[in-house]
Amino acid sequence: MLTLIIAESSLEVVPKEILEHPQIQGYVKKFGKNSEFVLLDKSYHYEAMNKLKWKEKRGRPDIVHFTLLEALGSPLNLEELLQTYVHTINNQVIHVNPKTRLPRNYNRFVGLMEQLFQKSKVPLEKQPLLILKKSSLKTLIEKIKPSTTIALTRLGKPSTPTKTAQKLGKHKNPVVLIGGFPRGHFTTETLKLSNEQVCIDPSGLDAWITASRILSSYEEAINLPEKRFSTIKKT
Ligand SMILES: C[S@@+](CC[C@H](N)C(=O)[O-])C[C@H]1O[C@@H](n2cnc3c(N)ncnc32)[C@H](O)[C@@H]1O
Repeated sequence: MLTLIIAESSLEVVPKEILEHPQIQGYVKKFGKNSEFVLLDKSYHYEAMNKLKWKEKRGRPDIVHFTLLEALGSPLNLEELLQTYVHTINNQVIHVNPKTRLPRNYNRFVGLMEQLFQKSKVPLEKQPLLILKKSSLKTLIEKIKPSTTIALTRLGKPSTPTKTAQKLGKHKNPVVLIGGFPRGHFTTETLKLSNEQVCIDPSGLDAWITASRILSSYEEAINLPEKRFSTIKKT
């Protein structure tokens, strides 16, 4: 079982300090949202975000949306061999049930996340598929007790996705960290939680491209495509 943690993710509700900014208030009015649980989005809140600390790493929920679609739709996840978590820049963790079928539409995804930040779980009526808790990345990793943790970062030791995945494939319970932010790098606190830091391409890749490369290479490393063809009927 591989665990993917989308770490330090750019996913949060609008911080209280900028809630009264005219750009936020205009947005809340226009879209009829509950101002306490509006998701921070750089495309709409650029000016309001001007005074925020680490603003270049914030307000990009689309990164989590794309990366989760990539992970949850992967054959590895369909085989229940992947567990995905979203750790946020504010030290909250979303436990993602592998059976979650996320909205493909971004606006609907935003609505779902706003509901999650408000209620801490969705859906409310049935068994929740997404659960939000206050937790540091350290606490999450301590709970998972991984056999190894590899942080994927452009600042890491160069290695191909194939070689990295082969290394992961030798472990019983490996964790991969991918940054859920648009710019900058993991904090030293995050890097200290990893056993290795690996760069899988000379260019800086989007988080979801990094996820697709490592998940598909991991599937190859554990011979998943062959296993699926030999055991699963076409659907
Ligand atoms: C958009 S990047 C963050 C920006 C960062 N300056 C960069 O270029 O890596 C989001 C995440 O994708 C992963 N990533 C991007 N390029 C990578 C690479 N060449 N090797 C390994 N991981 C990479 C890292 O986990 C990173 O935190």
